[in-house]
Amino acid sequence: MKKRSVLMILLALLMVLVLVACGNGNDNGDDNGVENGVENGAEDPADDDEAAEEELPVMTMAEVAENDGLDGARAYVVVEGIVYDVTDSPRWVDGNHNGNQAGQDLTDEILGDSPHGRSVLDRFEPIGRIEE
Ligand code: HEM
Repeated sequence: MKKRSVLMILLALLMVLVLVACGNGNDNGDDNGVENGVENGAEDPADDDEAAEEELPVMTMAEVAENDGLDGARAYVVVEGIVYDVTDSPRWVDGNHNGNQAGQDLTDEILGDSPHGRSVLDRFEPIGRIEE
């Protein structure tokens, strides 16, 4: 009888140890899951771009029109709903660039008429967005 009791107690202790070990294992698994979730979320560059654009202040076309680069005004251009400040570009003196005046939406012109396309805008920080 005594031997059996000791054996039972040892068995019970073993089971407790196994349960505790499994519990820790699960915790680690959960932590990894959360970390991976965060990493995956930050890894998608398209999501980042969209999120960054949404955080830009909303501007009106009237505000953009006031910034046509003439009479000392700053030079803003709108391409695909995003406002860029091109004032500091030596190619936009007085807000004019190859016949294109700042202060307006130049999406059609940059995509249709320019030799460079929209890639040149990567050199400029977007400063706002036009709400659709
Ligand atoms: C329609 C005729 C156009 C011509 C012939 C033209 C031509 C050029 C050329 C030769 C450059 C220099 C190339 C370079 O820096 O990589 C340039 C730069 C640039 N263009 Fe145009 N472009 C035109 C229209 C436009 C339009 C409609 C926009 C509208 C936003 C635009 C925005 C820019 C910008 C932001 C730069 C870069 C300026 C800088 O880095 O300082 N262009 N363009």
